[in-house]
Amino acid sequence: MKSFWKVLSLSVVALVFLAGCGGGKKGGIKVGLSLPTQREERWVRDKIKMEEEAKKLGVDLKVQISDNDAQKQLAQCENLIAQGIKVLILAPHDANSAAAIVEKAHKEGIKVISYDRLVMDCNVDVYISFDNVKVGELQGAYITKLVPKGNYVVLAGAPTDNNAKLFREGAMKYIKPLADKGQIKIVMDQWVKDWQPAEAQKLMEQALTANKNKIDAVLAPNDGTAGGCIQALAAQGLAGKVPITGQDAELAAAIRIMKGEQTMTVFKDTRLLGAKAIEVAIKMAKGETLTEANQTVNNNKIDVPSILLTPIAVDKNNLEEVLIKSGYLKKEDVFKN
Ligand code: BGC
Repeated sequence: MKSFWKVLSLSVVALVFLAGCGGGKKGGIKVGLSLPTQREERWVRDKIKMEEEAKKLGVDLKVQISDNDAQKQLAQCENLIAQGIKVLILAPHDANSAAAIVEKAHKEGIKVISYDRLVMDCNVDVYISFDNVKVGELQGAYITKLVPKGNYVVLAGAPTDNNAKLFREGAMKYIKPLADKGQIKIVMDQWVKDWQPAEAQKLMEQALTANKNKIDAVLAPNDGTAGGCIQALAAQGLAGKVPITGQDAELAAAIRIMKGEQTMTVFKDTRLLGAKAIEVAIKMAKGETLTEANQTVNNNKIDVPSILLTPIAVDKNNLEEVLIKSGYLKKEDVFKN
């Protein structure tokens, strides 16, 4: 009985100690993180990586998820600002209205990192993302090489997300010249509200009906929307018969690629992006200069100092090499069926 109490009291001491160490919390640099959603795998990964990195480096990271709601994001960021954060890492739901968040943070002397998505029309301090025009170029080059003529469904992401415009711009560099020549016929050209898979599915169903199922290729801006389109194709017995792009290297997409239902995806290593954001946040909090922000992206107001990582096209030929060997996805998960 005595030893039971001894073990119990030792466990309590250990727990209290661990709790004190948890997250590198108390006393660490306070950083706010505002993400648009946790409904998509990629944003879950960003959050996990940043929390891990913050813990390792003793940053007190305060996380808020805005559920694709601009008003909620503003209110949550105001709350973070009130908590005395030194730096805000902000992935905006709405690129334009989020400028108000940047202004409010600046009024309190808080620096803002525009994370993955650019905040437009404001003096945001730094932008950390991937080369997003390149993401679109990888999609456009891939699909036009495979399907140089025929009926195309062209979907873009959320009109509120500046990235969606950049992805489209990159892809259209390849699709438009062929459409101008009359080789490609764009039978649908639509934005997908909030990047919702169900919305993409609906659009794909409409395109199939309007064209009596004669669709030769689909530009889907990310894996979520590709998944929606593939459901619509499957309902017509066309899954795997119509080449379709994607982005994010989600597990579900990797499975579809190996089954032949999705043609490609674009891998953006969120582990690198997340780690970079925490590293930069620490530097900014300490007032250090960011030598690595050696390029700029214009946000309609200023040339924002930027750090842009490189995306990689993935199909069934290099999936194992790029996604599994790098530890991003597990072999047993991708090949479980
Ligand atoms: C991100 C993509 C993501 C999409 C939908 C974009 O801003 O760059 O990786 O698929 O938002 O969340």
